[in-house]
Amino acid sequence: MLDYRDGILHWRTHNLAQIAAQVGTPCYLYDLDGMCANLRRLQRAFPQAEIHYSLKANANLAVIRALSAAGAHFDAVSGGEIFRAVRAGVAPERIVFAGVGKTRHELDYALRLGVAWINVESGGELACLAELAEALDVRPRVALRLNPDVRADTHPHIATGHAAAKFGIPLDEAAHLLSAYAPERAPYRLEGLHVHIGSQLHSVERTVEALQAALALIDRFPFLRTLDLGGGFPVSYDGEPMPSIEAFAAAICPLLAGRDIRLILEPGRYIAAENGILLVAVQYVKPTNSGTFYIVDGGMTELIRPALYEAIHGVLPVRQSSAPPSLAHVVGPICESADVLRTHIHLPPLAEGDLLAVLHAGAYAAVMGSTYNARPLPPEVVLEGDSWRLARRRQTWDDLLRDEL
Ligand SMILES: Cc1ncc(COP(=O)(O)O)c(C=O)c1O
Repeated sequence: MLDYRDGILHWRTHNLAQIAAQVGTPCYLYDLDGMCANLRRLQRAFPQAEIHYSLKANANLAVIRALSAAGAHFDAVSGGEIFRAVRAGVAPERIVFAGVGKTRHELDYALRLGVAWINVESGGELACLAELAEALDVRPRVALRLNPDVRADTHPHIATGHAAAKFGIPLDEAAHLLSAYAPERAPYRLEGLHVHIGSQLHSVERTVEALQAALALIDRFPFLRTLDLGGGFPVSYDGEPMPSIEAFAAAICPLLAGRDIRLILEPGRYIAAENGILLVAVQYVKPTNSGTFYIVDGGMTELIRPALYEAIHGVLPVRQSSAPPSLAHVVGPICESADVLRTHIHLPPLAEGDLLAVLHAGAYAAVMGSTYNARPLPPEVVLEGDSWRLARRRQTWDDLLRDEL
């Protein structure tokens, strides 16, 4: 998929140097065909599941449209994400609304639209939802998000299913809410459970534990007919071995066999991460005793994952070189020591103006972008087949001032 042709890095048929010359750097590139292919691989691994792409990973409108056309449903965690999906043409009944701190305004918006499910994360939220549903005279479908007290095998910042996490409802409290549920009186239909124990899961075992906790509740409360198992399916950022989607399916599907349960999955990273590249250009070369610093024009404002999660992203020079590689650190221009894209990597010698491709920047990159240091947000380019187009233009300095009164 990525290879050098005539000395220049190509992504599928696309010459990365040519795209950078036209749109400038930093810029994001997304391979829409690759995202749809990953969606199809998920659909094949879990033929019985409804796949809700997690918008938080990458909510570019072009991405939403492509995945929607390929049959995806969507998982939103804010009113803004629902708004984006609806603007991209997604029917509200294909959207699940999750999130630990939904505001009354957001709930009201989701209820008026008629989203498919509201995944409720606390007794307080359920009470608030009941009040709003009654006032609007609607009867939404609700799933309780469980906190199964399972510590996901991942970075602590993206583990969400252990007792100390803010997410979900502890099992005993969930059982209490389910016992108290009176379908004839409640202004909602409590018909599902939701579990999402974390992102970038390094093993299938913790997911199985969480699933078993949910199934134990389903056995006690048979009116629960839908199980949303969240996302979390991992990708290999730097060649490290990770369980495949088929390994997750092999562990999960037998536990559901013979049960009349509708399965929902909410993958984000698995679909989008490997199908994005951040292109940056070297501004300055700073040799030091501990390796060469390549100071590039993108950093934590474009890709915060290395600073936030100590994430390791692959980096490839766009111009092929046969010169011997040496120890290098690819760092951004932002006034923070945490502003690194990749440290301790071996790269051939680079010069000012040389381009670098930072890999796996399709998920949790642009969506986590910021204008810190008054840096305009970069453009987003989408590749489809042999053509590419600008999906979001580069912000300007004027854009940054536009909302100030
Ligand atoms: C509730 C929920 N569902 C789905 C996801 C998507 O996770 P991932 O991108 O790891 O698949 C997340 C992300 O943390 C989440 O919080």
